[in-house]
Amino acid sequence: MAILNIIKEGDEILRKKCRPVEKPDRRICTLLDDMRDTMRLAKGIGLAAPQVGVMRRIVLVDNSEQILELINPEIIKEEETQEGIEACLSVPGKYGIVKRPMKVTVKATDRNGNEFITHGEGLVARAFCHEIDHLNGVLYIDIASEIIDQDEVDD
Ligand code: NI
Repeated sequence: MAILNIIKEGDEILRKKCRPVEKPDRRICTLLDDMRDTMRLAKGIGLAAPQVGVMRRIVLVDNSEQILELINPEIIKEEETQEGIEACLSVPGKYGIVKRPMKVTVKATDRNGNEFITHGEGLVARAFCHEIDHLNGVLYIDIASEIIDQDEVDD
């Protein structure tokens, strides 16, 4: 177990496209464990591998029942839309208003190499979209209709 350093906006690493995982191995399992610890400590509801400097298509999303591990995730269905508040561990002190699908269906592989399908609604759908965007070098601030500085709100 280890707590990993979360890379912040401005670092080119967050702007690169990640490569798929061919076959989850021990190294990938260790990464998943470390990402889980890192996300818990940071109190995030999602974390993508590039945020810890690993350019692989891996994300974690807390669906409020469990922390899901998604390897090579793909959104295969989007339904309805929602507009709401979004933040990112790599963009501290800010949040934004982002339009996302209300419901998504995601296909991914688990750490044992088995493919599965999962669904998310509301905040969970938002998290799936946000984390999968990270794998393509996209940050929510790129698509937000408004970005708010938390300091300005506190004043
Ligand atoms: Ni993020």
